[in-house]
Amino acid sequence: MADDFRNALDEIKLRAPIEEVVRERVGGLTRRGALYEACCPFHEERTPSFKVDPRRGTWHCFGACSEGGDQISFIERFCSVSFMEAVEILASRTGVEVPRKGGRRGPSREESDRARAALERAVAFYAERLSCVEGRGAREYLERRGLERNTLEAFGVGWAPAGGQALVDLVRAEDLSLEVFEEVGLVRRNDSGRPYDFFRGRLVIPIRDLSGRAVGFGARRLEEGDGPKYINTPQTALFNKSELVYGLDRALGEVRRTGHLVLVEGYTDVMAAHQVGIQTVGAVLGTATTDRHAALVRRTGARRVSLVFDGDEAGRRAAFKALHGLLPLEVALDVAVLEGGADPCDLLVGEGAAPFLAILEQATGWFDFVVEGLDGLRGIERSKAVDEILGLVARVSRPVHRSELFDDLSRRTGLAPEVLRAQWRTRAGARDPRPARAAEAAPAPATPSASVDPRVIEAWRGLVGALLLDESLVPALRPHAPHCPDPLLGKVLETVLDMVEDEEVLVDPGAVISALGEHPARALVVGLAESARQKESARALLEGELAFLARLECSRREDELRDLIAELERNEHAADETGLEEVGSRIAALQEELMHSLRMRHLSPDASR
Ligand code: UTP
Ligand code: MN
Repeated sequence: MADDFRNALDEIKLRAPIEEVVRERVGGLTRRGALYEACCPFHEERTPSFKVDPRRGTWHCFGACSEGGDQISFIERFCSVSFMEAVEILASRTGVEVPRKGGRRGPSREESDRARAALERAVAFYAERLSCVEGRGAREYLERRGLERNTLEAFGVGWAPAGGQALVDLVRAEDLSLEVFEEVGLVRRNDSGRPYDFFRGRLVIPIRDLSGRAVGFGARRLEEGDGPKYINTPQTALFNKSELVYGLDRALGEVRRTGHLVLVEGYTDVMAAHQVGIQTVGAVLGTATTDRHAALVRRTGARRVSLVFDGDEAGRRAAFKALHGLLPLEVALDVAVLEGGADPCDLLVGEGAAPFLAILEQATGWFDFVVEGLDGLRGIERSKAVDEILGLVARVSRPVHRSELFDDLSRRTGLAPEVLRAQWRTRAGARDPRPARAAEAAPAPATPSASVDPRVIEAWRGLVGALLLDESLVPALRPHAPHCPDPLLGKVLETVLDMVEDEEVLVDPGAVISALGEHPARALVVGLAESARQKESARALLEGELAFLARLECSRREDELRDLIAELERNEHAADETGLEEVGSRIAALQEELMHSLRMRHLSPDASR
């Protein structure tokens, strides 16, 4: 992160103390000793478990969310905005000038204002076309589908005339800029440079970002016939399917209140759900979910996400695609299946909210859902399906959780853990099919480490937590740092080490979060520090965990040595000379390693007691 950006963040945090930022938004914040507390704004509770620590500049919920962070992450969560938007909100409150990150030139404020104005003009134009004579066929279609006028108005549904010049004519008549309409994907030019409307003879449905601003359209043809059923705005500076959840702007309030988000497949399903009063529904626009979708969902504060899909094979495929990007989130993910090819929209308008809610009631946890799919599969089919499940397990970000799922999969499939591990390794080598993204995208989640002993991960959580509380422990931990098996913990560790190296300001959780910028590891920091604080002392915690790891390592090496000696004996009988030599040198190497870890163990202060 550029230094001037970092400095601006520090300045903002200095001028907007955490307790003020929280007090302005959360009622009933009261002082208790050195801390402030209130009922957590992110989940419903009666006794306060939300604490603010003014000295450290952090907040933490010790209750259901067990989340925490600094001023920026508080604003992100509370206002459901992105990292940069949160920085901007606090910057304008504190009058701090924020330099553009990385100097990348995005559209200027003025340019994006003009683009937004063009989109809103088009929304109004299409809506008006739907209500006049030429929109009659479309109105009849919508009526047949059971979508009511209020719903259509709320969602801004419109009609794009068939001729191909209606919008172009409007732009000219109102003396607007054709260029801007081209930039937002509404106007195209043919080979001879003549402009024409991109959407022609279709129902148009505005797609809005989280704050409700139109960024593009989905457009449906009325009859079976030529061309795809839906076309979308092509990718533009403002419109990217991979980072939008249709209807989320309208669902946001209710999702925040209930902590539940429901994802369906189509535009019409979303509209129908809202029409019958189920307001927690949005749709991913026919693509696999991405880290961007996950970031969006995280911003809603949802703690449970339900996917509603058809019971058929296409629905299953769609559910897998939808799970992919959401699994790194720490939310309860479940899948509800509509049997018999029922269309959610038709079900909702035909039978109201009740049957749909009943289906949600019976949703299956995502892991059970994917494992159930193995029933009846044999041979290569089964192996492929297991591969796919492993691919999903790899997306889970918590190593301990991942490891549990791995064991579970072994139990449920009857496949020995070694077999699963072998399969895991072959697929872990294969690259993730997600396209490489620009540098500003959230960093890829942790590489799979399901084979790491969860006890080792827990020990490392302790080590990093201890370091966050007491930077004088750095020399004791630094030599072990390269062995940290978990990428997120490793990132926190590396950041602290860098900060100490640079003799930066005091290492405390708030400063570490600042230094992590947008990296997902920042979500761990306050939790790690808080659990470490429960311990007697940071030093004792560090020493205990290091000693534990050393013991574990020694016993692993001892086992290995024993196996090798057994092998040596076997080879001796077989009088296999090259085998003997090879095993001999492996034993020598292992002995050296063992001596080294014994020395480390001896050096670790545990041995001095
Ligand atoms: P569906 O075919 O289920 O459409 O595709 P739908 O939304 O239920 O529409 P109705 O009920 O038939 O009117 C689900 C989603 O997949 C994307 C759209 O986002 C659609 O809402 N899709 C589908 C496309 O982008 N293009 C297509 O040709 C079809
Ligand atoms: Mn449909």
